[in-house]
Amino acid sequence: MNPDVATPAIDPRRVIIFDTTLRDGEQAPGATLNIEEKVEIAKQLARLGVDVIEAGFAISSQGDFEAVQRIAREVQGPIITSLARVRKQDIDRAWEALKDNPRPRIHVFISSSDIHLKHLFRMSREEALIQTREMVSYARSLCQDIEFSAQDATRSEVDFLCQMIEVAIDAGASTVNLPDTVGYTTPDEYERLVLTVLSKVPNIRKAVISVHCHNDLGMAVSNSLTALKAGARQVECTINGIGERAGNAALEEIVMALQTRQDFFGLNTRVDTTQIHRTSRMVSTLTGIPVQPNKAVVGSNAFSHESGIHQDGMLKERRTYEIMDASSVGAGETNLVLGKHSGRHAFRKKLEELGHPLDGEELNRTFFEFKQLCDKKKTVNDDDIMSLLLDQVQTEGTPAYRMEQFQVTTGDKIVPTATVKLVTSDGTVLTQAATGDGPVDAICKAIEQLAGLESHIAEFSVNAVTAGEDALGEVTMKVIYKGRTVTGRGAGTDIIAASAKAFLHAINKFVEMGPFEEENGADPYKRDEFGPLAGISRAYM
Ligand code: KIV
Ligand code: ZN
Repeated sequence: MNPDVATPAIDPRRVIIFDTTLRDGEQAPGATLNIEEKVEIAKQLARLGVDVIEAGFAISSQGDFEAVQRIAREVQGPIITSLARVRKQDIDRAWEALKDNPRPRIHVFISSSDIHLKHLFRMSREEALIQTREMVSYARSLCQDIEFSAQDATRSEVDFLCQMIEVAIDAGASTVNLPDTVGYTTPDEYERLVLTVLSKVPNIRKAVISVHCHNDLGMAVSNSLTALKAGARQVECTINGIGERAGNAALEEIVMALQTRQDFFGLNTRVDTTQIHRTSRMVSTLTGIPVQPNKAVVGSNAFSHESGIHQDGMLKERRTYEIMDASSVGAGETNLVLGKHSGRHAFRKKLEELGHPLDGEELNRTFFEFKQLCDKKKTVNDDDIMSLLLDQVQTEGTPAYRMEQFQVTTGDKIVPTATVKLVTSDGTVLTQAATGDGPVDAICKAIEQLAGLESHIAEFSVNAVTAGEDALGEVTMKVIYKGRTVTGRGAGTDIIAASAKAFLHAINKFVEMGPFEEENGADPYKRDEFGPLAGISRAYM
């Protein structure tokens, strides 16, 4: 274990925050992020002060491998980890992606429940124990810091689970995770499981117990907190609680519960809570998964008071109706500071304040965009600038297509027509005209024809980034191509331009995913030595 990471032996009250937004979180339907977006989120997670970033599942695709590798190379501070099944190829791929980081961790997993072993892994318990020992030892021969997860731990026969954990620790795991993979457990039951593992696994003091809860019955956060109270010291969670199905335990809720109820839990984290709001907004914007208004801690209503009695109480003494201060999660008022007359220096300072220092060409490009925005909008606030920065992130690197120019004609008596000029990553200029039911449809059709991807827009929404008539509009689209869903996002004062950006963003994501398995003639559910797609879920492979 790394010396500067708290373990129970060093500080018994310290909880290790393991963020899996980029791995389990990204498995939420339509949440696919491109590599630049993942790197940007990882940098923000480092600013937030999480201890571990699970950057992806390196073997699952070339894109995931590259994202883990870029994060390992560019993000320092937190431990960076990649998921791997108990398979040599997975572990080698994870290590290849992680090895340039000063604090790498390989996260190895297999299931411990009979239902998973029988139907997914097609393995006996004995075989599972052998794989665990061999593969944890192999991972440990490459990397000092190994986490082992017993998938579906909460539906496993407890004596067997304890045996598996013991084997993993004996083979070199320094963190052992007890996932509630299907969101089935309850707080009391999960507490008992942690206590049982603590009392029955003879070598448990050599490892940190980690918990990982899904939210199928809405108990992910309660289950996680109860497990921490019982003695677990690492908690796995995601920003805004995004993840497979009903999602994972929400990081912001766990951290704020531990902080606000320090008197009850007596535990602490290293998270800079004032970064929570910004991180939440970044994740929701880039994944296209909105945050419900009444969501604890980060919802837009989380600190609003509507009823007269509440407002009266708040005016007299804030604590009458508020247990947390909005500013403690960075949700204080945004200041309207920049505008048409603001210079490069002020803009640069603002970027630094927002945690996105830029220099050179990047600064020039963003400053140019900022000035263009100032021509359309009287005042530009923090949210506008964040939106602008996220626009830049989306088009950084070499996207397959960039918008060079477009023109749309529309009206109530003519057929909406769009002409689009795109530039490909190798500099080729492509032009296409198309008609549609409306101007947005026409422009999307022209883009689609140029890219040769016959897709389908399943959801379309426009939200104002800030208040006011000249607000920046943010368009989010869920686009489906060959059964896969991605989210595209674009912002601008002109909704047609923002829609074009959003659609192009989605198309570029499909291209970045590479040829689909079906196109290669391969069977995506093909069997390997573990059964169909190494069992588990489609998203894991
Ligand atoms: O939910 C789960 O069991 C997981 C493991 C792979 C850790 O995500
Ligand atoms: Zn999970």
